[in-house]
Amino acid sequence: MPSRRLQQIIPSVATSDGAGVSLRRSLGRAPDARVDPFLMLDEFSSDDPDDYIAGFPSHPHRGFETVTYMLDGHMLHEDHLGNRGDLLPGGAQWMTAGRGIIHSEMPQQESGRLRGFQLWINLPAAEKMKPASYCDIRPGEIPNVALPGGGDVRVIAGRVEVGGVEIAGPVQGITTEPLYMDVRLPAGGSFSHPVAAGHSAVVYAYEGSLAIGDEAEARPLPTQSAGVLDGEGPVAIRAAEGPARFLLLAGRPLREPVVQYGPFVMNTREEIEQALADYRNNRLT
Ligand code: FE2
Repeated sequence: MPSRRLQQIIPSVATSDGAGVSLRRSLGRAPDARVDPFLMLDEFSSDDPDDYIAGFPSHPHRGFETVTYMLDGHMLHEDHLGNRGDLLPGGAQWMTAGRGIIHSEMPQQESGRLRGFQLWINLPAAEKMKPASYCDIRPGEIPNVALPGGGDVRVIAGRVEVGGVEIAGPVQGITTEPLYMDVRLPAGGSFSHPVAAGHSAVVYAYEGSLAIGDEAEARPLPTQSAGVLDGEGPVAIRAAEGPARFLLLAGRPLREPVVQYGPFVMNTREEIEQALADYRNNRLT
């Protein structure tokens, strides 16, 4: 089966969120830049504390899941359920907002580099009002697998086969069956991987540039851009010039209406109004 082709490039744009954290947003930079079931992908990366020190003080979410994956630095998550998650380099947190969560995500450093990603994954209509839950994933819980041709893969969610060995990431049992991999390739290195038929696939290049697709028709994906793949086959990715690092995301599309208002993502306008009213009246959670 031919590999999936790079169908659309969503370059990230510089923006800020929280109390003034500088970041780059690719998925979700506009309503037509979502890739069902993925709503948003932010990359934060800075050596300048002014870019991150303000953090994300207490704020609500309803109707989806957030996945934060750290490469460098130290953040602390606290929520209304009493969870405290210490996010360290190479660690992640998987938060299912469900009917409502109120949390903060604050840098625990006053200098040095803070670098990582936050991905928003939609919940099906039937699960948008389920109770919130939170999972702290320590760096050592994320399998790191060497690739036969050089480089390595970390598996945050999903089940993958690398070099004939099946590896399960720490996050399982999510309805959208997300695959979340962090791949590092040496110069000229390549990586191919099956993606379930009918599932969406997105590649986010965060260091170096990539060539995506079968050799003869590979198309370039520049750094700090999300590439949306089409087709039903596997993904085939090559480091185009020098070494490269990228995220590979895949998941089952929900094909349901999406109505977003800031940190609330529901299916209808009425449900958004309900979320706002519930938040105002301290009934979100
Ligand atoms: Fe948040």
